[in-house]
This record gives sequence, structure tokens and C-alpha cells, in this order.
Amino acid sequence: MPTILVTGAGGQLGFELMRALAPLGTVHAPARAQFDLESPERMRAWLDRVRPDLIVNAAAYTAVDRAESETAHAWAINATAPEVLARWAGEHDAAMVQFSTDYVFDGRAERPYVEMDTAGTQMVYGASKLAGEEAVLADCPRALVLRVSWLYSAFGNNFLHTILRLALERPVLKIVDDQVGAPTSTQLVADTTAHLLRTLLSAGNHAPWGVYHLTAGGEVSWHGFASHIVRELEFTGVKLACTAGNVQPIPSSAWPTPAVRPLNSRLCCDKLTGQFGLNLPHWSHGVSYALAQLQRSGALRVRRWAHGARGD
Ligand SMILES: NC(=O)c1ccc[n+]([C@@H]2O[C@H](COP(=O)([O-])OP(=O)(O)OC[C@H]3O[C@@H](n4cnc5c(N)ncnc54)[C@H](OP(=O)(O)O)[C@@H]3O)[C@@H](O)[C@H]2O)c1
Repeated sequence: MPTILVTGAGGQLGFELMRALAPLGTVHAPARAQFDLESPERMRAWLDRVRPDLIVNAAAYTAVDRAESETAHAWAINATAPEVLARWAGEHDAAMVQFSTDYVFDGRAERPYVEMDTAGTQMVYGASKLAGEEAVLADCPRALVLRVSWLYSAFGNNFLHTILRLALERPVLKIVDDQVGAPTSTQLVADTTAHLLRTLLSAGNHAPWGVYHLTAGGEVSWHGFASHIVRELEFTGVKLACTAGNVQPIPSSAWPTPAVRPLNSRLCCDKLTGQFGLNLPHWSHGVSYALAQLQRSGALRVRRWAHGARGD
């Protein structure tokens, strides 16, 4: 049974990976105090002690705007730490998975990006993630780099939860309409990662490790995504301050941010679906599932009651 290290298990993707990778081996998910990505010595000491056969790095500095002013911090976690992990993996014949992002691209292309396209991001977060990818590919012969986009889940801090909170509080939401991508559930990423690893780890010397794009199917703007979430919430009976009709589109220029996001965040996943014989479901499936999870967990019921209790 392989020994598997999952970093960032407290994050939205790491949480799902612990579940999805459990059938593949013994999963270790050390807390930050034991495995701090800003402490190469501590990481190496842990690796030398536990000697994982597979390193799955889901930890990252993900504060995209703050990265513009915390460059060294972002770079240490997103670029240097993956290099340390990959070097250890390469030296000990371990395999490694590194997660990356659509934000490595500048978004000027007029079609979905393929893996071989030149990454030309100007933002610190994207550049640090790109440096992480490059280090992992250079130092670990059995490395899988998965570029994912617009992650959300029923748990964690993400766009779905932001829209849920804002729709409860505000009668009108103004959401950017000129950035297009594929909202992707962490469950889809985690389950697909497990499937890819099962194939790659049993394929021997000719296993097709490398860079792949992994997102849900279809595409939508942030505004379309937000409108969809509010519409679905309306069906659940949650009492909202905002209706789907009051989710208004605005251009990116009306919502300036320190990090300039790509307008085109679309990633072509043909390489992955062709190589591994997979179907990537439409993004809306994952949203319905995440909202159903929230409803079944009672989280939406509590919100309905809390809202009603204020006399709305
Ligand atoms: N979120 C998105 O929309 C998105 C889009 C494209 C790509 N990605 C990529 O997908 C991966 C997973 O993202 P996510 O959304 O799951 O991120 P997340 O929810 O922000 O989780 C990040 C995790 O990294 C951990 N971490 C941060 N700094 C650390 C350090 N110095 N030492 C140890 N752990 C540290 C955090 O620990 P704490 O819990 O202690 O803070 C947290 O558990 C990342 O590689 C990210 O770049 C994300």
C-alpha cells in the first residue's frame, strides 16, 4: 500500500482529496505546525521520517489580490515549496501531483487554452504558480501537474459561499460579466485525480505523466455563475434579499482589483479526456450537488430560519 502525503488538507481541495485518495493507500495529512510550506527544513525532516511514495500538494497561497503586495510570501509557498517537494520526490523515486491554475495565462487568446500554450501572466499569484509547475516538472520525473479553475465546494471559502451570503444580505448584486471560465467542484477534481493516479501508478515506465487541464465542462461568466446560484437557491426556498433578476452584469473595469484577472480563463481539457477516457460533466451539475449537500446538512435551513427570525 503506498504512503500518500496530502498537503493543504484544511483547504477546500485538500479536504476532498483525503476522501478520494483513501482507497489508494495510507493518507497522511500533517497540520501546518508539522509541515509548514515556508519551512523547507521541517518539510524535509517530515519527508525523511515518513517517506511517502506519493506527494499530493494541494496547499497554496491562494489570496490572489494580496499576493501582489505579499510577493515573497506567495513565492515561498507557491514556487519554492513545490520545488523542495519535487526534489525530494525525484531523489526518492516518489511520484508527485501539483495543482496549478488557469491564472498562469494572460487570457488574451480567443479560444480555450491548451497545455502547450505559452503562459504569459502578469499577476504575482499566476507567476508564482507557474514557477511551481516548472520546478515540479524539472525535478520529479513522475509528476502530474493539473491546472484547475474557479474551484468551489459546499465547504470552504469560495465564490458559491460569497454569493449565498451576499444574496441573503443585499437586494442587488453587481457581478463581473466579461471574465469567462468553468466553475469546477473540488469533488470533481479530487475524484478525477484519484482516477488518473490509479491509471498512472499502474502503467509502469510509459505512464503519461505531465501537464493536464482539468475543469468541469461548459463555460460561463462570473455573472452567469452567480445568477445560476441565486436561481438554484430560489428553488430551495431559502428566503433571499436578492432575486436572480437582480444579479446585474458589470465589466471588469467597474470592479478594479490589485491582480488583473484573465478575461479568458477557459482551459481545453481534450488532452485529459482523450488520454484517460473520461467525461467531464457540465459545471452546473457540481453546483446542484454542492447546494444539495448544503441543504441536506441543514445549512440552508438554518439560514432560512435565521433570516426569518429577523422579521424579513
Ligand atoms: N480556489 C480556486 O479557485 C483555485 C483556482 C485554480 C487553482 N487553484 C489551486 O488549487 C489548489 C487548491 O486550492 P484551494 O482552493 O483548495 O485552496 P485553499 O482552500 O485556500 O487551501 C489552501 C490550503 O493551503 C494551506 N497552506 C497555505 N499556506 C501554507 C503553509 N505555509 N504551510 C502549510 N499549508 C499551507 C492552507 O492552510 P490553512 O488552512 O492553515 O490556511 C489551506 O489548507 C491550489 O494549488 C490552488 O492554487 C485554486
